[in-house]
Amino acid sequence: MPKARAIPLVVLSLGGSVFRTGEGDAAYLRKLASLLHEVATSHRLVVTTGGGRTAREYIELARELGLTPIELDELGIEVTRLHARLLAGLLGPPVSPTPPTTLGEAVREAHRGGIVVLGGTEPGHTTDGVAALLAARLRADRLVNATSVSGLFDKDPRRDRSAQRIERCGWDQFRDQVASVGRGDPGQQFVFDALGAELLARSRIPLWIVDGRDLDQLEGALLGRPFIGTRVE
Ligand code: UTP
Repeated sequence: MPKARAIPLVVLSLGGSVFRTGEGDAAYLRKLASLLHEVATSHRLVVTTGGGRTAREYIELARELGLTPIELDELGIEVTRLHARLLAGLLGPPVSPTPPTTLGEAVREAHRGGIVVLGGTEPGHTTDGVAALLAARLRADRLVNATSVSGLFDKDPRRDRSAQRIERCGWDQFRDQVASVGRGDPGQQFVFDALGAELLARSRIPLWIVDGRDLDQLEGALLGRPFIGTRVE
């Protein structure tokens, strides 16, 4: 059955490691905001922001101090929301300066139109999971995962220079890779979160993975054009 909606809807999961690297972040974020405004002229856009290094630092400190896993997740969520506030402020009105904190709120905002920006929602997953839940709930055309590597590799590209990028990958292969790495511990890192992968696979929503700092490639992925990265579909 053809889709009733004419304007494509894209969910962008912006990794915290992309958002703030400690180098040239202000210039990057300004360009990113211009790109998001441009994409929003032809697409509906929902953006989740990760917590990156800052979240991990707080989670490590709190773990050392003996806080519970739920409390560690909640600390991480606060940092993702800090990043959402920063991006929302940079994008300016009509983007809400106070990002939604629940899926329901985010869905309602998305239905009103414009760009929606949010961080985490509840303990137990990451902002990739939030992005996947929203993509499924809003029947998104694709989820773009903007991360610190240019796609999915057969080995860790940061440790092994012979690593090859996988340009296209089926859900079974991707699920196997996720399962071999992740247990969902607070602050854990992998190219995409397990809950999110499962949801997207079930909802048959394509996942495109791209280096978020490479704005030309990110633009291609957001607009549904060719880009350097990985397509999981
Ligand atoms: P992130 O989404 O940043 O996870 O959330 P990440 O794996 O560190 O991703 P990158 O590096 O930013 O791309 C940071 C932490 O916050 C908690 C989890 O502990 C997560 O690891 N969190 C986040 C939640 O518990 N629930 C959420 O909805 C979001």
